[in-house]
Amino acid sequence: MNIITSIGEMQAYSDKMRKEGKTIAFVPTMGNLHDGHISLVRKAKKLGDIVVVSIFVNPTQFGPNEDYKSYPRTFEEDRKKLEKENTDIIFFPDAKEMYDKPKTYVYVEDYSRILCGKSRPTHFRGVTTVVSKLFNIIKPHIAVFGEKDAQQAFIIKKMVKDLNFDIKIETGEIKREPNGLALSSRNAYLTDEEHSKASLIYKSLREAENMIRRGEKNPENIVIFIKNFLNKNKVGKIDYVEIVNDDDFLPTESLTGNIRILVAVYVGKARLIDNIKVSV
Ligand code: PAF
Repeated sequence: MNIITSIGEMQAYSDKMRKEGKTIAFVPTMGNLHDGHISLVRKAKKLGDIVVVSIFVNPTQFGPNEDYKSYPRTFEEDRKKLEKENTDIIFFPDAKEMYDKPKTYVYVEDYSRILCGKSRPTHFRGVTTVVSKLFNIIKPHIAVFGEKDAQQAFIIKKMVKDLNFDIKIETGEIKREPNGLALSSRNAYLTDEEHSKASLIYKSLREAENMIRRGEKNPENIVIFIKNFLNKNKVGKIDYVEIVNDDDFLPTESLTGNIRILVAVYVGKARLIDNIKVSV
């Protein structure tokens, strides 16, 4: 496994691999890797000949009062985990290498403003900008994103389509703790009590799924149920509970077809997101 920190070196490596006819599969991360990330790396391993994982805590996707400075940086542990998975390359640039007084952003209209975009207005602009840059640097054939960030995965697919990136976007399913809590680097901010409260987020989603399977047809009733469940159990301050059609990510009027229920809750110092897809 090689660690590459320079953009030029990364591009030269990818050009060489492409010339040799190798398929490059890419997993973008901000490090602090957990089993969710590792499952994406394993998926990438199956899809490509060469697996590149980027580790870059991207400043442009954090708002001014968010956790950019305190975001867990655990490169040595991450390196060991990736070595064990036979990763070929870690792309590990610093912020100076990635951003030299930039004036250019990539922004997916409308979808960047809803759901998480309401409370994090510049977040997705930072994500789509850095992911575009990483695509131009790593030149992958395939890129793998986690479904926990379902809105992010949708926005990336839209960007890839709109800007004609010649890259196939794959997603990997959400990995959970035994109590149901979705794995996230931000779980590290939780106290033991907050941690067990946070597991109720998934419980609320499963209960909502059961309601739909039992015949509930009105999305409003599901939203009210989840909000009441989270409030009654004092899980935290709810940012949003919304239901979208999973094919176009627009609010759904009826609970039919592929729908996705998405939740964001502030639990202690962490803002946690989770979602569940239900096909009816
Ligand atoms: O999902 C993440 O960890 C980040 O948003 C990503 C895709 C690595 C871009 O910084």
